[in-house]
Amino acid sequence: MKRGVYPGTFDPITYGHLDIIKRALDIFDELIVAIGENPAKNTLFSAEERFNIVREAIEDYPNTKVMMMEGLLAHFADEVQASAIIRGLRALSDFEHEFQMALANRKMNPRTETIFLMPNEKYSYLNSTMVKTIASMGGKVTSFVPKSVEKALKEKYKSKSSKNE
Ligand code: PNS
Repeated sequence: MKRGVYPGTFDPITYGHLDIIKRALDIFDELIVAIGENPAKNTLFSAEERFNIVREAIEDYPNTKVMMMEGLLAHFADEVQASAIIRGLRALSDFEHEFQMALANRKMNPRTETIFLMPNEKYSYLNSTMVKTIASMGGKVTSFVPKSVEKALKEKYKSKSSKNE
């Protein structure tokens, strides 16, 4: 049985991420979407909120589950006996960082390969930061994220602005 791990910060999950998940499901028997911490990123949603948002977004997907990932991805992939780590590549600008991460992960865990998948080109410009910027300024994010994520963004920015009042 081939199990893949799709790690990310998912702050929040977008249609670009969901496109990668669908593609990965064509290759793997089972997929774990792993909610990780990127120390370089200050997240809008807590890890628990991101976990719940992802769980709702993927509830209709077969053979897919969401897990919280603490610590190193290389160790997590080993613990869950994944055959491969899946990462999305949108553009050349993603490449250098992804290449370094894949090689460092392989050094730490030679049993798990990293596989890169490209999302549909209609999502090649899409990222979570852009979605947050648009939502924070009252823009519509309907074409970028599922309804449940749009709702979570609205609630988050509403509670943030009421805290600042
Ligand atoms: O969606 P992102 O922000 O590109 O995902 C980054 C993530 C969570 C996959 C990455 O930061 C990660 O793997 N974090 C766990 C710690 C780790 O293993 N870092 C990589 C060392 S080479």
